[in-house]
Amino acid sequence: MRILGIETSCDETAAAVVTERGEVLSDVVHTQIDVHAPYGGVVPELASRNHQHFIRPVIERALAQANTSLTSLDGLAVTCQPGLSGALLVGLGVARAMAWAADKPLVGVDHLVGHLLAAFLRFPEQLAQEYPEFPFIALLVSGGHTALYRVDGPELNQIRELGATRDDAAGEAYDKVAKLLGLGYPGGPVVDRLAQEGDPLVIELSRPMPGRDSLEFSFSGLKTNVMRYVELQGLPGNDSRLRDLCAAFQSRVVDSLVQKTLRAAKREGLSTIVVGGGVAANRGLRSALDAAAAARGLRTIFPPLRACTDNAAMIAYAGAQRLRLGHDDRQNLTMSPHSALLTVTKKGPGPRGAAQRRAQ
Ligand code: KG4
Ligand code: ZN
Repeated sequence: MRILGIETSCDETAAAVVTERGEVLSDVVHTQIDVHAPYGGVVPELASRNHQHFIRPVIERALAQANTSLTSLDGLAVTCQPGLSGALLVGLGVARAMAWAADKPLVGVDHLVGHLLAAFLRFPEQLAQEYPEFPFIALLVSGGHTALYRVDGPELNQIRELGATRDDAAGEAYDKVAKLLGLGYPGGPVVDRLAQEGDPLVIELSRPMPGRDSLEFSFSGLKTNVMRYVELQGLPGNDSRLRDLCAAFQSRVVDSLVQKTLRAAKREGLSTIVVGGGVAANRGLRSALDAAAAARGLRTIFPPLRACTDNAAMIAYAGAQRLRLGHDDRQNLTMSPHSALLTVTKKGPGPRGAAQRRAQ
């Protein structure tokens, strides 16, 4: 099977052609970072307009790079939730029109499921990478969401949320701290780079939710802590104090993510940990989680770096798993700003979806 995936939920216009086994035949991502950077976050109206402008050339490029055409595809998959409503509608409209015109099946994909399955993708240069097996614990760490899941299979009803952030997502905390320090948007990659050169022990920052039992996260207190440090000590220049502050912030975020992920694995009795989302590209997280998991005999699987941040290959792969089972959503495909993943924590079923990443 060859599936075209389309992704327009936030600030990346993306299209990709992927097989049902996860081989990536093409993967085109047009990022709008430059458009949103002056605002320190994503401006929804600008995002929709940019998707409108770039969606057609991006799809044409993805089909051409995969040496295929709409008529030879086996189906289409499009992100239908969660995300910015106007942005999602652009992808949905295009996908629906293409599916009807070529009489191909079309499935809607939850963006978060895409991130959780990104570790199954096989890029030409990385065919030898380890393949996850169900069930596994998944740590989703992106700009809009941070949560732990038990994943028994690729379908929505096989994925159960074990705990999520009570406030900011991890990527959102990186972006806000970077904005505060004048490091630009998105903040994750630059804070990660500076943290590698700093000493995490020089500056004392609070530990996010050290509670012994919880699988929930909280990053807004840590962000406030950085803000207070800057108020008291002044904004660091491009010097060792900036690097130490980034290192201290990163070590607090990473410690919290690692601790809760290991706890979830222990609680569910599972030995495989899969990570997804933009913050899965973080070097500090990759090395700390690998080391802590290995010490307990657990296996960690991170997606290839280019599949951590938003892309359409993960949407095509997640969609392929639904198309394989004969689903076709052409008649009743709807968009939602919220995820449909079921939230089942110790407190019982909770509200669906979480905060969106926006400029503020
Ligand atoms: O998954 P993603 O592309 O978009 C959402 O679905 O939200 O994640 C983007 C987020 C941004 O907040 C960005 O700062 C963060 O991922 N990010 C990182 C790194 N690379 C991207 N955070 C920490 N370290 C990185 N290396
Ligand atoms: Zn994402």
